[in-house]
Amino acid sequence: SEVKKIAVIAGDGIGPEVVAEAEKVLKRTEELFGYKFELEHGLFGGIAIDERGTPLPQDTLEMCRKADAVLLGAVGGPKWDNNSKELRPETGLLGIRKALGLFSNIRPAVVFDCLKDASTLKPEVLEGTDLIVVRELTGGIYFGEKFRRQGAHGEEAVDTCVYNVTEIERIVRQAFEVAQKRSKRLASVDKANVLETSRLWRETVNRIAPEYADVEVEHVLVDNCAMQLLRRPSSFDVIVTENMFGDILSDEAAMLTGSIGMLSSASLGEGSFGLYEPVHGSAPDIAGQGISNPIATILSVALMFRLTFGYEEAAAAIEKAVKNVLDAGHRTGDIAVDKSKAIGTTAMGDLIVAAITR
Ligand code: NAD
Ligand code: IPM
Ligand code: MN
Repeated sequence: SEVKKIAVIAGDGIGPEVVAEAEKVLKRTEELFGYKFELEHGLFGGIAIDERGTPLPQDTLEMCRKADAVLLGAVGGPKWDNNSKELRPETGLLGIRKALGLFSNIRPAVVFDCLKDASTLKPEVLEGTDLIVVRELTGGIYFGEKFRRQGAHGEEAVDTCVYNVTEIERIVRQAFEVAQKRSKRLASVDKANVLETSRLWRETVNRIAPEYADVEVEHVLVDNCAMQLLRRPSSFDVIVTENMFGDILSDEAAMLTGSIGMLSSASLGEGSFGLYEPVHGSAPDIAGQGISNPIATILSVALMFRLTFGYEEAAAAIEKAVKNVLDAGHRTGDIAVDKSKAIGTTAMGDLIVAAITR
């Protein structure tokens, strides 16, 4: 069958550990389903700063541009935390999203029945939770002008939040389309009681909503949403929101599932090209110990299959393998109730690989 090019940028901290497990999954699906993947590896993040003097080397970006999809681990760490903006791993991450036009970040949060006891919330509250955060990824306060200046009371720092109507419209349309394929309920999250960007956001949602008349829209203020996510998580289906709110709410949603180590993501633009990465970061506190949870990255491969390659059967097979391994009681430390029984990163990866069937 057709060869798919996948650019792999593992990054820092636990990035390389979890990506290695996802690569095993890619290899296994080649054997089982007859796919052909051509993997190319590139430097990205802190390691690229160390070796190349920039978090996003030009050749890494070119490699990603030539690929059909990108698999990304995570970037960042204390070593680079005091660097100037240009020499920060996170700047490379924002740069690659922007350069590749990936304005839409899809972050599913699904509660596995057998993991209800891994969450800090009560099991009956979590029952049936299966939501998607659609996060705007290339605008807002992350990308607005930033500067320091001398004010009347000393040094000032300024971050500007800008959204134009085109940016809002394209992400909101994507979210409506996602909602149409699910339970047809969309929560648009903003801070329209205070922020002008949020007022434009809400007006835009209301203006285009009639084009998706089968979808029921609810506007929720972000502070209230943060609260409702803990009070009634299962009542949410698709949540669409701006860049920073989506960043924060998706980490919150992660704890419904038991761990941020469970949350996958897809970053998309207008076409089928996509960048796939776990929602979590480089986890410097556990990096190098072989105890990180690879499931978020493995589930990101399933999203790559479904959303970029159209390999639905294999996507479902990966998700089923994860479910079966969890149902059998295997846990990494972050989702283990009895931490003494926790298994490591490679053991979890191997179990999932072995559980994939056609
Ligand atoms: P983090 O997500 O790296 O870690 C938060 C907590 O969750 C830590 O206790 C960590 O051990 C745990 N955790 C995260 N992923 C895990 C996994 N797969 N298995 C088990 N436990 C896991 O967030 P942080 O500590 O705030 O950030 C650390 C660094 O990562 C920072 O430099 C930050 O900028 C960067 N970061 C990068 C990305 C990315 O590359 N997409 C995302 C978030 C944070
Ligand atoms: C994420 C991360 C990034 C973000 C950081 C590391 C720039 O937290 O992917 O969620 O805020 O987008
Ligand atoms: Mn984040």
